[in-house]
Amino acid sequence: MILEEGEGSKRYCIKRKHVAIICAVVVGVGLIVGLSVGLTRSCDSTDGGQGTTQAPSHRPPTLSPPQDQGVCPASEDESGGWKNFRLPDFINPVHYDLEVKPLLEEDTYTGSVNISINVSSPTRNLWLHLRETRITQLPVLRKPSGEQVKVRRCFEYKKQEYVVVETEEELAPNDGKGLYHLTMEFAGQLNGSLVGFYRTTYVEKGQIK
Ligand SMILES: *[C@@H]1O[C@H](CO)[C@@H](O)[C@H](O)[C@H]1NC(C)=O
Ligand SMILES: *[C@@H]1O[C@H](CO)[C@@H](O)[C@H](O)[C@H]1NC(C)=O
Ligand SMILES: *[C@@H]1O[C@H](CO)[C@@H](O)[C@H](O)[C@H]1NC(C)=O
Repeated sequence: MILEEGEGSKRYCIKRKHVAIICAVVVGVGLIVGLSVGLTRSCDSTDGGQGTTQAPSHRPPTLSPPQDQGVCPASEDESGGWKNFRLPDFINPVHYDLEVKPLLEEDTYTGSVNISINVSSPTRNLWLHLRETRITQLPVLRKPSGEQVKVRRCFEYKKQEYVVVETEEELAPNDGKGLYHLTMEFAGQLNGSLVGFYRTTYVEKGQIK
């Protein structure tokens, strides 16, 4: 629901560029709400809207496809649980710090997100929802200790709108000792569709779906 509202304000925004900044903030907030229902939210995200005019470089949107294929290329790999629509129980994102910077002249945005993830079973893969947003740098994953985990590759599994991160080593469960931290840089088009990461686990009658 929240996502759809965001989409509405977005279209309005595209039609009337002079209120684009306000819209951008609305979208930012929409994203956060979408992301962090029931979670702590970061104040950074609204500040992101002010950084908009700082990058006047003229990057045509035609650059997107090559980059798309570069960092996290699309893959049909179905060898893991990401082929299911719902996140598995053992991957539990508990906190998102999101920063979005709309580049109004180009109708694009860039941003970064730091996601704290509670891992409760050993795994080499983490995956999260991603929609019409491309990852621009190889994601960085840190253990609860702060030590960086080598990322072997990442890819987009488009059928379920996931970005999947595969690590060199198996990730041990947190067991209540801190959380994994995944940092991703992303970019997308401000063209009328609401974008980004969203969480699809929800609680129904006390059960996490
Ligand atoms: C995410 O973490 C990195 C490094 O720890 C930091 O530079 C960046 O500003 C953070 N981004 C957000 C949105 O919190
Ligand atoms: C992480 O998950 C474990 C087991 O599922 C749980 O006991 C723990 O409270 C969770 N930690 C956080 C910070 O959510
Ligand atoms: C927005 O642009 C992206 C990338 O060019 C495209 O995939 C998507 O379909 C567009 N969405 C709308 C609503 O036009």
